[in-house]
Amino acid sequence: MKDYDVIVIGAGPAGYVAAIRCAQHGLKTACIDSGVNSKGNASLGGTCLNVGCIPSKALLESSELLECCQHDTAAHGIKVSNVTLDLATLMQRKQQVVDELTGGVATLFKVNGIVLYTGHGKLLADNQVEVSLNKGNSKQIITATDIILAPGSLPRAIATAPYTDDKIVDSTAALSFDKVPKRLAIIGAGIIGLELGSVWRRMGAEVTLLEAGKDFLPAVDQSIAKQASKILTQQGLSFYFACQVNSTEIKKNKVSIQYTHAGKAKTETFDKVVVAAGRSPNTNNVFAPESGLICDPHGYIEVDTQCRTRLAHVYAIGDAVRGPMLAHKGEEEGVMVADLIAGHFAQVNYETIPFVVYTHPEIAWCGKTEQQLKSENIDYKTGTFPFASNGRARAMGQTQGFIKTLADAKTDRILGVHMLGPHVSELIAQAVIAMEFNSSSEDLAMTMFAHPSLCEVLHESALDVFGKAIHKGKAKKS
Ligand code: FAD
Ligand code: NAI
Repeated sequence: MKDYDVIVIGAGPAGYVAAIRCAQHGLKTACIDSGVNSKGNASLGGTCLNVGCIPSKALLESSELLECCQHDTAAHGIKVSNVTLDLATLMQRKQQVVDELTGGVATLFKVNGIVLYTGHGKLLADNQVEVSLNKGNSKQIITATDIILAPGSLPRAIATAPYTDDKIVDSTAALSFDKVPKRLAIIGAGIIGLELGSVWRRMGAEVTLLEAGKDFLPAVDQSIAKQASKILTQQGLSFYFACQVNSTEIKKNKVSIQYTHAGKAKTETFDKVVVAAGRSPNTNNVFAPESGLICDPHGYIEVDTQCRTRLAHVYAIGDAVRGPMLAHKGEEEGVMVADLIAGHFAQVNYETIPFVVYTHPEIAWCGKTEQQLKSENIDYKTGTFPFASNGRARAMGQTQGFIKTLADAKTDRILGVHMLGPHVSELIAQAVIAMEFNSSSEDLAMTMFAHPSLCEVLHESALDVFGKAIHKGKAKKS
């Protein structure tokens, strides 16, 4: 007789969602999570709620408000003077948002009858799990019919910029600086680099991004990436692409970075350096050798399309397995695995994962980019529409960017939707739903959208696939 039907290791978005769905199915569920807050108390929600999605969005929101008060209200005839930043209060608010949400997950565990172990879990042989409790240093073995591994990921360190106490730091520390650095370098111009770079620039830092790759956001549709790069540069972010960081040195309370760019060796000094060079799966010490589990050469737990590992009744989900490291991808895997364990059919559609970069304007997309369609020799049609021609965007004074719809040249099925503009993190859901239902661009074009609204830009981009956008000067010939 096993102790539980299901044990979940890790209570990030993948693990806690899996645990809740298991409990909803009536399965006796336990979850082991090692995450604690600064007071040493259990803090559920993993990277996302504690040091990822949520605190970063709280900071993005506050810093955006600051910039708006400083620069944008005058055009509305609203005079605001003496705008000052109280960083301590801003950080307290961020922490309050985090505490409310992590506390919310704890409440959900209670109401769903999920047994929580605050400590480290390790898969042993025969579906046994060793739990080392945070408090009291005690160890115990618990068993379950099915086990779900959701240990998440950790910031990736780089040899040429090793972390120091408070000068060369990871994204976690960059969410909690107690003063605005005058000069901030970020190694890596990926999603974290752009979001946290935007936060600290808005608060007054001079931000330089040192990026190894030669292109700005290479995975993003390049027409969107090109315009976004221009806008973010105009906002004041400095980018060095194809840049190699050779070494770093702490000198007189500052960090000196030696790097090579455009064939020239350079040295620059910064107050803080954030390493945002990707994340690695956190799979060290999650399973014992006798469990029989193994990782791929990059440290990911190998799984099939339904997140089954090579061991019967052991699943792995979220950042610790293949695919993009996104909270919503992990959540959907959690739901899928719980449904499979409960004996239902379940799958995740990896083709329609939405991606969002929360800069201002925001960047969002789902499906294939033009560069992917070209490399796969797929014949496609394009429709685009700018926010500058949209009434709501004009009324809001947020006219930068555009939406692009890509559809199959023969079937008209939507293959990808790419957005740069205000609130596109919300608008992308409409494209995801359309693609999930295999819609054609004509389906979108024939759908009614409220006026005035930003989503009319999506409508017009679909109309433009046929050269029939109403508010576009030069309509294509049909
Ligand atoms: P995690 O959230 O990493 O959770 C894993 C949990 O398991 C942790 O609580 C950990 O303590 C625990 N754990 C690990 N090993 C063990 C063990 N052996 N025993 C017990 N417990 C264990 N994604 C988005 O989709 N949108 C965003 O806006 C976004 N913003 C981000 C911003 C930042 C700064 C960062 C760093 C990440 C961001 N992400 C975002 C990524 C997102 O946070 C991750 O994709 C997501 O948290 C992964 O969920 P997970 O459940 O797989 O793992
Ligand atoms: P990333 O993979 O997005 O970007 C890392 C960047 O660092 C890449 O451009 C890479 O070329 C560069 N790089 C790597 N090594 C380097 C080096 N030595 N020197 C200079 N540049 C180097 O990873 P990031 O930004 O760290 O984010 C980690 C994960 O978190 C991402 O996979 C992302 O999915 C997730 N995330 C998601 C967010 C969202 O959905 N809005 C927000 C923040 C993070």
